[in-house]
Amino acid sequence: MFLFTSCQVGAETIFKTEIRRLFPEFRLSFSRPGFLTFKIPDHLTLDNISDFANRSVFARTAALSLGKINPEKTNAETTDTEKTNIETTETLTSLAGKIWAIAETNRIFVNRVHVFRRDPLPPGEKGFEPGLAPELQMLHKTLIEHSPKPKFLGIRHTDPNYPAQLNETVLNVVEIDPGCYFIGVHSVSKGLPIQSCYSGGVLPITIPDNAVSRAWLKFEEGLRWSGFPVTKGDYCLDIGAAPGGGSQVLLSRGAKVLGVDPAEIDPTILNHPDFTHIRSRINQTKRSLYRNIRWIIADINVAPNYTLDVLEELATRKDIPLCGMLFTLKLFHWSLAEHLPTYIDRLQHWGFKDIRVKQLVFNRQELMVAVQHRR
Ligand SMILES: C[S@@+](CC[C@H](N)C(=O)[O-])C[C@H]1O[C@@H](n2cnc3c(N)ncnc32)[C@H](O)[C@@H]1O
Repeated sequence: MFLFTSCQVGAETIFKTEIRRLFPEFRLSFSRPGFLTFKIPDHLTLDNISDFANRSVFARTAALSLGKINPEKTNAETTDTEKTNIETTETLTSLAGKIWAIAETNRIFVNRVHVFRRDPLPPGEKGFEPGLAPELQMLHKTLIEHSPKPKFLGIRHTDPNYPAQLNETVLNVVEIDPGCYFIGVHSVSKGLPIQSCYSGGVLPITIPDNAVSRAWLKFEEGLRWSGFPVTKGDYCLDIGAAPGGGSQVLLSRGAKVLGVDPAEIDPTILNHPDFTHIRSRINQTKRSLYRNIRWIIADINVAPNYTLDVLEELATRKDIPLCGMLFTLKLFHWSLAEHLPTYIDRLQHWGFKDIRVKQLVFNRQELMVAVQHRR
């Protein structure tokens, strides 16, 4: 029994450390940037795979491995481009046949197909952002067209971006290198992060042309992941707001935003009628300003303990009608993540019932934390 799992490129070492701590019985088997496989005890089931995806901070996806497809041997004259080209109909059809043969051998009743590849780079580097490449969309389409119909009754939506639903079984097809695929399966169980409903754990989010910073992406993803019901008229505080991508996400939901930052805010945001800039460091502001705040987002480029100091002061006050907080913890060194149990311990003392930490797909070297429901 093998489990495969994908993560951010660069996070592999800290991810392995996390797995050794949470699942000491797992044995590393194969490791590539952004993709790891583990030998796991034979008695584990799909529910255990879901538990893994749920508890791991660094896992983007997790699936029980069903098999692997290796690149076909090509003759010496074939050029490199031809070798890696999966776009011809013939190649795609033959690949789809092999993938379905693996699913059938393992007697998997599939409701949904997720196709993705391990990332080539960390998000945001050299313009790279995770997402579904057109050639993989083609492979998805071919897989659906060539699905063994009687055993594939569950499929209702063929759009690769349509989210898998609760209790559905998802076939994972992961391109590791050109022509090399891992085939696996996971099921969408209650409590799993929303990421497990999408190919590669990537929510279909595209940064709009008018986004004022890349932070737009991570806060859009963060709000969808946390499920925070930020609605029209809600008062929000954005700490470390400049230039304003996070505030922009809140404003798009109709919220009224107080942005605290000593740095400049982009004019698009500054001139928005529902935005107010407090040009200062958070610790130098008057606390009376925050009396109506329901949601806090924070993205301060300081060490995690400092972010937690700032937020603790606000989270533990009884005169703020706070519903939840969504914030980044910057991992200036990956090893800072080893202190995660201590950080979570701190959060638990603030009285929130629901505490979640994840390295989201659009987070760079940082974690996203969502806390809500004060006791
Ligand atoms: C990564 S940037 C924030 C990006 C921003 N969230 C966005 O959505 O565009 C970090 C910001 O934290 C601000 N910052 C650092 N220390 C701060 C503090 N003590 N109080 C408020 N802002 C702070 C910096 O000025 C900087 O603009």
